[in-house]
Amino acid sequence: MIRLTYASTAINEWSPEELLSLLKTCRTNNGAKNITGILLYSKGTFFQVLEGDEAAINNLYSVIEKDKRHTDVTVIEKQHITERAFPYWSMGFEKIDSKALSKMEGLNDFFEKDFTPAGFASHKQIIGPLLTHLRSRLIKQVTIDSHEELPMEHEDPYIRLLHRTIRIGVKFLALLMVIVIILGIVDVVYVIYQKIVQPPFLLMTINDMLEAFGGFLAVLIAIEIFLNITLYIRSDVIPVKLVVATALMAISRKVIVFDYKHLPPEYVSASALVLLALGVTYWLIQKKD
Ligand SMILES: Cc1cc2nc3c(=O)[nH]c(=O)nc-3n(C[C@H](O)[C@H](O)[C@H](O)COP(=O)(O)O)c2cc1C
Repeated sequence: MIRLTYASTAINEWSPEELLSLLKTCRTNNGAKNITGILLYSKGTFFQVLEGDEAAINNLYSVIEKDKRHTDVTVIEKQHITERAFPYWSMGFEKIDSKALSKMEGLNDFFEKDFTPAGFASHKQIIGPLLTHLRSRLIKQVTIDSHEELPMEHEDPYIRLLHRTIRIGVKFLALLMVIVIILGIVDVVYVIYQKIVQPPFLLMTINDMLEAFGGFLAVLIAIEIFLNITLYIRSDVIPVKLVVATALMAISRKVIVFDYKHLPPEYVSASALVLLALGVTYWLIQKKD
């Protein structure tokens, strides 16, 4: 994956309608190519970050570069990355006030007059703080917009109270999950202690180990469920990958401790099918990412 950052100068000042239409194009096209990023516009200057597969970014950049609506297209940074800075936005958008930008921490050397392709190119050290700042702004936006189904600002006070109650309930569940995790860890430690103090001293049989593995996996599943709950509080992103991973772990845990002598073959076959379906689902999600 690569991240390409460039700036350019608009031929004419862009109206909000024109910007909106460009944003729509970006979101449709980039979403289909798994390209994410952010587009900034201020007083005739564009600043865009594109993240994704190298070939896809290079192809898109060669299209953008030829777009007659802007000129002076200047690459500021192009680097290989392992993680996206803007994973949730096929194209986030900020109509930025460049004066306000220069007041931000780490951007003090950056002046309003520098908000041009040449300004960005000669102040490459500001790109890091700028991306961090934009990312946190967008994350805040996602958090505020999140859970439209549970808005904190509903016009009906009764519904507002119900939504608030559900949110508190989710937080309480997260707290309970932490307690379960701690108890689970204590249980694993206790099981291992019991097994090693029993004769033969300091030795664990295969069955003892399987029992301990079951305990370990139960704790890991509890941690995954905790992450699901906290993700639910934090954003509107449905953690599908995490949910599937949790289900995979839960079923794997069962398989590890299966007692094949006493289980009916149909049960084992059905479990194998579920495991296969979850495995394929996880692989497909991973591939899409
Ligand atoms: C500053 C700027 C940024 C752009 N960014 C993107 C982009 O991220 N993705 C995209 O598909 N098109 C972007 N475009 C538009 C492309 O140049 C081109 O018009 C568009 O990809 C054509 O899409 P279409 O074939 O769906 O009409 C941008 C144009 C400008 C001027």
